Amino acid sequence: MTAKIPSKTITLTEARELQTDTLGFVMKTADEMGDICKLKVGFWDIYFLNHPDYIQRVFLDNWKNYSRETFQFSNFARVTGKGLLTTHGDYWQQHRRLAQPGFHKNKLDGMAAAMSQTIDRMHGRWDAQLANQSTIKLDIDAEMLRLGLEIVGTALFSLDFSKDSADLSQEILGMMQYVVYRSQNLLALPTWVPTPRNVRFKRTLHKVDQIIYRLIQDRQDSGESKNDLLDLFLDGRDANNQPLDPKAIRDEIITMIIAGYETVASGMSWMWDVLSRHSDAESKIREEIEGWDGVVTAETVSKMTYTSAAIDEVFRLYPPSWLITRKTVAEDEFGGYHVPAGAIVVVCPYSIHHHPSYWNNPSIYQPERHFVDYANFEKFAYIPFGGGPHLCIGRPFAKLEAGLVLIKTLSKFKLQPANLNPPAMNAQVTLRPKNGMEMEISKVQSLI
Ligand code: HEM
Repeated sequence: MTAKIPSKTITLTEARELQTDTLGFVMKTADEMGDICKLKVGFWDIYFLNHPDYIQRVFLDNWKNYSRETFQFSNFARVTGKGLLTTHGDYWQQHRRLAQPGFHKNKLDGMAAAMSQTIDRMHGRWDAQLANQSTIKLDIDAEMLRLGLEIVGTALFSLDFSKDSADLSQEILGMMQYVVYRSQNLLALPTWVPTPRNVRFKRTLHKVDQIIYRLIQDRQDSGESKNDLLDLFLDGRDANNQPLDPKAIRDEIITMIIAGYETVASGMSWMWDVLSRHSDAESKIREEIEGWDGVVTAETVSKMTYTSAAIDEVFRLYPPSWLITRKTVAEDEFGGYHVPAGAIVVVCPYSIHHHPSYWNNPSIYQPERHFVDYANFEKFAYIPFGGGPHLCIGRPFAKLEAGLVLIKTLSKFKLQPANLNPPAMNAQVTLRPKNGMEMEISKVQSLI
């Protein structure tokens, strides 16, 4: 016999709360409803799973039973098309195999060099502004977005986005806001209706498409091989052993850009806020940097254990991908609770990362817990990069990038919050600071 799943109908007031204070609503629901519950939202039943065993079942043990045919992913697909992030089944598997070598360990040093150059360029801009004043005020979130986009361009596709990065970043963020709008407004008019929002979105998408297709064409025309992810897609073959068509390559490139820049940038923005408010942690990172002799490589980052744990802990407190959805192919069972076929299932990294049953003092920033307690972790209670076969392909890239940005920046600069209170969170496609993140930046005696 199966148990009855705790169920709750979302009222209009709660639906509004869900939009204005999304995380507050999710946390309250998790607290009130327990490990699994059914939320009735309009015509839809949504199953919210908040237990590591249940999450493991979705991501790993029975992963093939969970497709990405959900609002979340079909809205992403409006921008990305059929890329790795939105597909599943044979098509996904073929493309995942194709892209995987692009993130292999042996690529990391090359990526680190490309990332370092881009980080140096950002520091050059800061240095120029600091030439005749001791402190500057910058929106560090805007800086991280620009940096993140430039790094994805250069380290994955050997492309220089630096001239266009501020504009391109705004265009992409604008498109992602549209994705969020459509996810939150299930009754929004269809995309073919020429509302100002729909028209704006289509125009931007067309502009970004033109940039991407031009990049593909330029590489093909040049006949050059750069041994990067773009080459992997250009040389790749589909299930019929035919070269991928330009649309399929465009979809994978835009997927990598979308999946790979706002996520890391959001994580790094929170990293600066957290560290600037935890001088003990920041001092320990500085000590680790001072003990390092030589160039900062991919290996450096992995060997700086405290620094790595400090980043892992930021991703726990502020998981950039704060919500992941799936649809059941066939019915399934979680600890005696029955979930029907065709049901929408929601996993929330933010809520499981703050769950008091799996984390002592969950709201406290404590990097040490990542090496002292690691063996005791419930593996699926820590899921900033998802898990199972769909585990984030860019995880090594993201950890390397955040590590390099942290080490290289702290070794030259001091960042302090411009405001007393931490910025409010805005749970959009990623978990972002609501109104940017103003910080004061000054120079320190160079550590390396
Ligand atoms: C801190 C940074 C990042 C976070 C928090 C993050 C998070 C995630 C999560 C949670 C998933 C699983 C989604 C699911 O199960 O449906 C995922 C998948 C993915 N991520 Fe990331 N990601 C990050 C950085 C990156 C980067 C840098 C790239 C590429 C350069 C990337 C590319 C992808 C792709 C292509 C997928 C789909 C994987 C698949 O289904 O095969 N991500 N990411």
